Amino acid sequence: MCGIVAYTGYKQAHPILIKGLQRLEYRGYDSAGISLLDGKVYTYKTKGKVSELESFIKNKHLKGSLGIAHTRWATHGEPNQKNAHPHFSQTKSLSIIHNGIIENYVTLKEELTARGYLFESDTDTEVLVNLIEDIRINEKVLLDEAVRIALCQVVGAYAIVILSDEHPNTLIAARKGSPLVVGIGDDEFFLASDATPIIEYTKNVVYLEDEEIAILTRGEELKITTITNQEKTPYIQKLEWNLSELEKGGYDHFMLKEIYEQPRSIRDSMRGRLNPITGNISLGGIIDYEQKLINANRIIIIACGTSWHAGLVGEYLFEDIARIPVEVEYASEFRYRNPIIGENDVIIAISQSGETADTLAAIELAKKKGATILGICNVVGSSIARVTHAGSYTHAGPEIGVASTKAFTAQVTVLTLMALRLAQIKGTIPKARFMQMLQELDRIPEKVERLLQNNGTTEIIAQKYKDVNNFLYLGRGYNFPVALEGALKLKEISYIHAEGYPAAEMKHGPIALIDENMPVVFIAPHHGIYEKVVSNIQEVKARKGKIIAIVTEGDTIVRNLADYVIEIPATEEFLIPILASIPLQKLAYHMAVLRGCNVDMPRNLAKSVTVE
Ligand code: AGP
Ligand code: GLU
Repeated sequence: MCGIVAYTGYKQAHPILIKGLQRLEYRGYDSAGISLLDGKVYTYKTKGKVSELESFIKNKHLKGSLGIAHTRWATHGEPNQKNAHPHFSQTKSLSIIHNGIIENYVTLKEELTARGYLFESDTDTEVLVNLIEDIRINEKVLLDEAVRIALCQVVGAYAIVILSDEHPNTLIAARKGSPLVVGIGDDEFFLASDATPIIEYTKNVVYLEDEEIAILTRGEELKITTITNQEKTPYIQKLEWNLSELEKGGYDHFMLKEIYEQPRSIRDSMRGRLNPITGNISLGGIIDYEQKLINANRIIIIACGTSWHAGLVGEYLFEDIARIPVEVEYASEFRYRNPIIGENDVIIAISQSGETADTLAAIELAKKKGATILGICNVVGSSIARVTHAGSYTHAGPEIGVASTKAFTAQVTVLTLMALRLAQIKGTIPKARFMQMLQELDRIPEKVERLLQNNGTTEIIAQKYKDVNNFLYLGRGYNFPVALEGALKLKEISYIHAEGYPAAEMKHGPIALIDENMPVVFIAPHHGIYEKVVSNIQEVKARKGKIIAIVTEGDTIVRNLADYVIEIPATEEFLIPILASIPLQKLAYHMAVLRGCNVDMPRNLAKSVTVE
């Protein structure tokens, strides 16, 4: 997500920086900026594309052999010129670029404001650069020490690079939770979010570790310390990749990269919102609407496609955990059926892009009828984020592949946090049980990590069934929406017809389809109605259907009935959708690759359907 490029050396910095930002465009962003040091700091930034920044700086002062550049993926503050990076400190002596989220920026900002600091932007980043400046001035320490002290006070994720007009040859960088790579050239240093902006200049790189600070001074050795002031010996590696591979981080497709980003994106969707030790859940964006949700006649979830499937999971979550009535509506249907909406209804609009025309139109209709509208979006400052009364961002980072993967699991994670928070307020769950649920939610990213490590099965299944024409996906309860989502993933990228269905509904028609050519995917982990799903599996088996089953690790019953099983870690029933959807993403991915389909840009599809 977003991008960092920096340079100090003997060449002019700005061509290297701009080209570096172009190399990082694939990561998705909403604004861009550059700072050059040539006696003083020259900063230029624009909303929109790098090309717009390039046009903007055409006749500007662009000299200087030290500089920093950034593409922003907004998390705090609208995507616009004033919130774009780099950000100055108050004295204009420091300039910083940052990837990540400073979770405790509000507290830090209050303290700095009390000490007379004024802020030009809405970002958490500007708070950090002024914290560094405040420490440097008041503790009378050098810049690298001020950075170290400041980062010890920061809670959250960061990759930062900072320059100072007092150190014309030095860049200071640090990372925690967001990637940062140092490139070591001959009498020059590079920094970037990944190796793509660096590889054409040098293949000698150092991947910074979390809580490491790098000091890059032209003409001196690279220095690395930890934020606890331990010296580290730089581990220099030689890049083996070529450029095209690097843009996808070594993955063949963005979709596969985004599937494998899910441990991080799910963690990011919870970052600063869940404390499994204290039991604290805080969704800042909707805090003022908690009572409205608690007292709602009903929650109406409106969305399209995969986001609609996340909404269906939300229905089970809100009703099961928070005991609040929910309806889930296709936005495209909702907007035309003259729905009955009362002012005590709360609408939750879910959208990865925040630009889906049908969802936007449904929101406008609901607004006219007096409903309160909350949003769950992935793109900060998107249209839906702006027209809703409040909301929560999923913080999944840019999703480039047209088929939604990490955005779906992040949406479900945010809905889970909302349902748990409302349950906490309403007291629908005993405290001990509630804490158990929170602790299991907190363990989900590591379970996803483990799930993604056991490779192979989905590829074998894809190899076996890549030429069939129809698939059936069946699930019950929380896993019925997972069946729908699995079917959508397959059809939208492999072009195989696939249908998701409630498993029990099979006998009301679809069972007529079953024969030895029909692969049926069952989502059959251990949960409340597992035995019923086993019965459905036996019904299919009795008619020679081919059975692929998502099962809980160690399951032996379904294993003896199915042709193939894919294991997922055991977890709470309400958390199964997050885990169970991931093997289905991988199955669809491998089917599409084996069928020679354009995985990241499937035919007829757009990443954001901004038309009716
Ligand atoms: C999902 O893989 C598809 N790309 C599509 O169904 C998508 O979920 C739908 O168009 C809604 O998009 P949104 O979440 O950006 O509103
Ligand atoms: N949180 C910072 C902001 O919103 C950085 C976002 C990013 O990673 O680009 O400006």
